[in-house]
Amino acid sequence: MADELVRVEGISRDFGSGDRVVHAVREVSFTAGRGELVAIRGRSGAGKTTLLNLIGGLDMPTAGRIHVAGHEVTSAGERELLALRRDTIGFVFQSFGLIPILSAAENVGVPMRLAKVPAAEREQRVAVLLELVGLGGHAAQRPYEMSGGQQQRVAIARALANDPPLLIADEPTGQLDSETGRSVMDLLRALVHARGMTALVATHDPTLMELADRVLVLRDGRLAEAGEPVPA
Ligand SMILES: Nc1ncnc2c1ncn2[C@@H]1O[C@H](COP(=O)(O)OP(=O)(O)OP(=O)(O)O)[C@@H](O)[C@H]1O
Ligand SMILES: [Mg+2]
Repeated sequence: MADELVRVEGISRDFGSGDRVVHAVREVSFTAGRGELVAIRGRSGAGKTTLLNLIGGLDMPTAGRIHVAGHEVTSAGERELLALRRDTIGFVFQSFGLIPILSAAENVGVPMRLAKVPAAEREQRVAVLLELVGLGGHAAQRPYEMSGGQQQRVAIARALANDPPLLIADEPTGQLDSETGRSVMDLLRALVHARGMTALVATHDPTLMELADRVLVLRDGRLAEAGEPVPA
């Protein structure tokens, strides 16, 4: 694929050892193109979080290779991984992961501080991002002063802070009611289109399946073949 952003080749991840080994991910291979929104579904324990953590360089596989934007994540050293997570990959977690004592604007600005973006430019970019996720009027509020949907929007804005080509989201609507979840998914869909980002989103949420360009199904750590009957 000419505009390929993510390449996952023969990835396996075992946890534990001996007869208590868990094969969380087994020989998974796929690619994702630029601008593509790929949903990853599968039952609890199917390996979704494990796979996303491997792609994001938060964990290392037992076997296989992963490339993101031309960088081999699976052979990267600590320093290269830090740079990848700062500049190339934005994360959104189910639990939002905002810093409680910082305002919405300060939370969004954290990755820019790490990337040493000058204060004036940072402020301007933070304002644009908060506007983008519909929180222009909430910049000064701290996470506990916002609803769950608003907190997740701040987390999405933060993930976009350094304009990464890849967004990884692990059940981003898992803690939201279905209507709020829908609006967060619509937002993700619109952002991927508008910015040409690639997004990998683990979800149980049927609304995202509709919005996704492609749906990958994990079953016991393996990618199910297209057309194979799959569990809900
Ligand atoms: N650090 C770990 N140590 C041991 N086993 C683990 C670890 N992380 C995950 N596992 C196991 O790997 C398997 C896959 O877990 P994973 O969290 O990837 O599933 P999931 O698809 O994200 O599930 P859920 O929908 O509940 O979030 C499970 O059997 C889990 O118990
Ligand atoms: Mg999970």
